[in-house]
Amino acid sequence: MQQRLLQHLSLFHFLVLAVDPSVPETAMPGPGGAGPGPRLGAVAAAAAALLALLVPAAGSSAAAGCEVPPSHRFDCGAERLLAREGCEARGCCYAPAASGAGGGPPWCFFPRGYRSYRAENLTATARGYAARLRRVAPSFLPGDVGVLRLDVALETESRLRFTLRDPARQRYEVPLATPRVSARAASTLYGVQVHEDPFGLVVSRRPGGQVLLNTTVAPLFFADQFLQISTSLPSRFISGLGEHLAPLVLDTAWTKVTLWNRDMAPVPQVNLYGSHPFYLVIEDGGSAHGVFLLNSNAMDVVLQPSPALTWRTTGGILDFYVFLGPDPKSVVRQYLDVVGFPFMPPYWGLGFHLCRWGYSSTTTTRQAVANMSAARFPLDVQWNDLDYMDAKRDFTFNKETFKDYPDMVRDFHQRGLRYVMIVDPGISSSGPPGTYKPYDDGLKRGVFIRNATGQPLIGKVWPGPTAFPDFTNPETHEWWHDMVKDFHDQVPFDGMWIDMNEPSNFVEGSQDGCPNNSLEKPPYVPGVFGGRLQAGTICASSQQYLSSHYNLHSLYGLTEAIASHDALVRIRGKRPFVISRSTFSGHGRYAGHWTGDVESNWEQLSYSVPEVLLFNLLGVPLVGADICGFLGDTSEELCVRWTQLGAFYPFMRNHNDHGNRPQEPYAFSPAAQDAMRKALRLRYSLLPYLYTLFHRAHTAGETVARPLFLEFPKDPNTWTVDRQLLWGGGLLVTPVLEAGQTKVSGYFPAGTWYSLVGVGAAAGLPGAATPFLRPDSTIHSKGQWVLLPAPLDTINVHVRAGHVLPLQEPAFSTAESRKKGMALVVALTPDGFARGELFWDDGESWQSFEKGDYTETLFLAAHVSVGGGCLGTALQPPAVTILGVTSPPRQVLANGARVDDFSYCSDTQVLSVPVSLPMWEQFVITWS
Ligand code: NOJ
Repeated sequence: MQQRLLQHLSLFHFLVLAVDPSVPETAMPGPGGAGPGPRLGAVAAAAAALLALLVPAAGSSAAAGCEVPPSHRFDCGAERLLAREGCEARGCCYAPAASGAGGGPPWCFFPRGYRSYRAENLTATARGYAARLRRVAPSFLPGDVGVLRLDVALETESRLRFTLRDPARQRYEVPLATPRVSARAASTLYGVQVHEDPFGLVVSRRPGGQVLLNTTVAPLFFADQFLQISTSLPSRFISGLGEHLAPLVLDTAWTKVTLWNRDMAPVPQVNLYGSHPFYLVIEDGGSAHGVFLLNSNAMDVVLQPSPALTWRTTGGILDFYVFLGPDPKSVVRQYLDVVGFPFMPPYWGLGFHLCRWGYSSTTTTRQAVANMSAARFPLDVQWNDLDYMDAKRDFTFNKETFKDYPDMVRDFHQRGLRYVMIVDPGISSSGPPGTYKPYDDGLKRGVFIRNATGQPLIGKVWPGPTAFPDFTNPETHEWWHDMVKDFHDQVPFDGMWIDMNEPSNFVEGSQDGCPNNSLEKPPYVPGVFGGRLQAGTICASSQQYLSSHYNLHSLYGLTEAIASHDALVRIRGKRPFVISRSTFSGHGRYAGHWTGDVESNWEQLSYSVPEVLLFNLLGVPLVGADICGFLGDTSEELCVRWTQLGAFYPFMRNHNDHGNRPQEPYAFSPAAQDAMRKALRLRYSLLPYLYTLFHRAHTAGETVARPLFLEFPKDPNTWTVDRQLLWGGGLLVTPVLEAGQTKVSGYFPAGTWYSLVGVGAAAGLPGAATPFLRPDSTIHSKGQWVLLPAPLDTINVHVRAGHVLPLQEPAFSTAESRKKGMALVVALTPDGFARGELFWDDGESWQSFEKGDYTETLFLAAHVSVGGGCLGTALQPPAVTILGVTSPPRQVLANGARVDDFSYCSDTQVLSVPVSLPMWEQFVITWS
C-alpha cells in the first residue's frame, strides 16, 4: 500500500500541504514549498491515500477515467443538456442511465482526475494560509476566472473559514457582518490539507481522521456566473438547506435543493420563501459538523448517494465556514456565532395569536376577540390581514370599515391584548402625485429599486402597480421608520407582520418586462420554480443600492426585517416583534417566521414539525405554521390536532385564508373546543419554561424546539425522528399527525419520562398552581418506540428525568398569567438529580438582559439558588412537585422550617410541597 501510494504521489504530481492548526507557523512549507508538512500524520496520510485512489494521470483520455460508479458521478453538463459528442468534447464521460425519482446519476460526468485548478504558492498568513489557484485546463464556461486566491482562516478551535475570490476583481459578497478574527487559532478538533493538482481541500476530524469535507471528489469551477464545488459527505444524515417542505433529514438519492426566495405555497421539491445555505451532518458515532456557504445568489445544492454534495451558485464568491462541533448542539451554536444569535421576543409574543384574511371590519375583528373571551380561550395577540387597509395600500386604513381602528387597538390594550397587522413591501405607485405619502416621499428620497433606465421598477401586487423599497439603502431605513412611525402615531400597534417580501410580484419581472441580459438569463439557471429568475418576482438586473437584485434577491426579506425591527425599537422603545415570510441566514437575530400558505391537510400538518425543527437549527426559533392550515377549509379533527401541535410551536398563530370556513377555536363543537382549550392552557402553563428557552437562544445560541438528535446524538434511532419535538432538553411532545388515530407511536430515548397534563385549572384542577401528571403513564425507556394513548382531547407531553421546569398557572392572557402562582416540576433521575432554570424580567423591555434587569434562577434537585440581576416583576412563590421520590419522606423542610402540609403518594412517587418562599431569594427544600 505504502509503495502504491508513493507511486501515485510521484506519478500524478500531487502535493499534500499539511495545513494543520497545531503545526507552528515555522513548520509550514514556505512559498512554493512541496511535499508533506513535517507533521502530516495519519489524517493527511489517509487523505492522501484516498486521493491517490481518485486521481489518475493528468491528460488521460475521457474514456480512461470513466469507471466511476453511478452514485459517485458528478455532472459535467449541469448548465446544458449534452449529447455524447458535446460531452466528450469537454473531456467527460457519457453513459446514459436510468433516472430515479430525484433524477438519477448524470449521463455526462467528469472522469477521475479531471483537472481544473492547480494550487501554487501556499503561504502562511496571520489567520491561516493563502494560496494562488491557477486554471490548468480550458474551461467551457463564459467568464471563467483563470486565477483565484484561496484563503484559509483557522478562526477558532472549532471554526474554519475558507474563501475563493478573484484577486483581480472585487466581486459581490454578502453584506453580513461576520466575526472579525485577526489571529490563527490552535485546534485539536480538525486538520486541513490543501491538495495541489487538481486543487482540493480536505478537512478531517481529529482524533480519528474522519474526513468531513473533501473537495477533491470533483473539479472546481469559478466563472462569472457559475461557481461549483463538490464535497464528499461522511454520512447520509444531512439536515439544513432551508427552506423546503421536506423531512428533517434530506434524501441523498439525487436530490436537488434550490435556494432562491419565492412566493410559493409550500410543496415538496420546490424553492420556497427562504434561503439558508447551511447544512449539518451527523457522522457515524454521533459527532456532527456543519458547513455554511455565505452566498446569496440563486443556487442549487445537489445531494447524491455516494454520499456527496455539490454547491452550484450563480454569482458572488465561494465563502465557506466549517463548524467542527463535535456535537450537533455545538454545530448550531458555532453557526449562530457567525450569523447572529436570535432576538429575545416579548413575553406576549409567546401567547396565542389569532388572525384571518377576512376580518373585514373592526366590528368583525372585535367580535373575534369577544368570542374568544366568551368561549374562555386564552388570547394574547389579535391580528389583521389586508382588510384594514384602504385600497390595500400600506400605512393607510379604511375610514369606513375600520373607522374606529385606533380605538379598537386601544381597547385591546385595555384588555391586556396586543395587536399586530400586516405590512407588504410593495408601495402603491399609481395614485396621482400628492395623494399617497409613502410613494411620494419614497420617490423624493430615492428609496425604490430601479430598473435599467434608472426609474423605479414597477411591478404589481395587491394594490395594483407598486414600487419596491430597496432595504439595502440606509435612506430606505430612515424612510421606512418614518412611515411606520406616522402610522403608529395613528394606530398604536405592537408588532409587524411582513409578508410578500421575497419580494412577490404578480407580473413577471416588471410591468415592462425585463431587459435581455446575462443577469436575467444567466448561462445556468438553478431549478427555480417557474424556470426563470424573474418568475414571481422582480427583474434580476434591477439595481439596488448595494448591488444588482440578481445578487441581493434572497436578502430582500432579511433586509426588510432589519428595517422593521429597528424602526419598532426606535418608535416603541420596547422589544420589537416582527414575523416575516421571507428569510435568509441570520434572520433570527431580527425576526421570526411563519411557514406561509400551507394547505389545511394532514400532510402539511406533519411537515410542519420538521419545518419548525429546521428553522430552530437555522437560528430562527420563533417559528410556526398557520394552525388549522391556511389554504382551503379545515376539518374539526384536523384543527384540533393542529391546535394541539401548534401549542408547541414556539410561535403559535391560527391564520386562515379569505373565504374559508371559520377556524377560530370557538367555531367548533364543545368537545373540540374542550380539547383545544386544554392544549392552549397547557402551553400557557409552560410559558415560563418557553421564555427561559428563548433567553438561552438569545444569549447562548441554543435552540428552543429541538429535534431529538440534538439531545441524544449518540442514539442513532433519534437521527431521523421528525414527528416529535422537544422543547429545550426537558420536554418531549408527541403529537397525533394522522386522521382518525387515537394512539400515537413515539420514540423515547433511554431514561425516565413523566407524562405531564397541565397545571391547576389547565389540568381540570380548581385554581391551584399544581402541576398535574399522569403517573401511571411514566415511561422507563431503554431507548424504544412506545405506543401512547392519544384520544382526541390529548397531546402527549413528557418531562424528562433530570429536568426542573418552571411553570405558572395559566390565564386568558400573559398579562394575567404573569401575575399567577408559579410551580416547579422537579423530575428526578433515579439517582436523585434534576436541574433547571428560570429567566424572568418584565417581559418587554428592550435589552433587559444586556442591561441586567432580570432574574435568573437556577434549580438544582432539592436545592435552589438564585443568581442574576435584580427582579423587574415580583414572582409568586412556587408550588414544588418532585417526581421520582422513591421512599416516603418523614420530614420536609423549606429554608430550615418544617413544612407540615406536604403530600406524598407512594404509588406515583410524587412529593408535593406547597411552599411560600419568595422565588427571588435563595431557598432550599430538603426531605428525609
Ligand atoms: C400571503 C400570505 O402568505 C398570507 O398569510 C396572507 O393572508 C395573504 N398574503 C394576504 O395578505
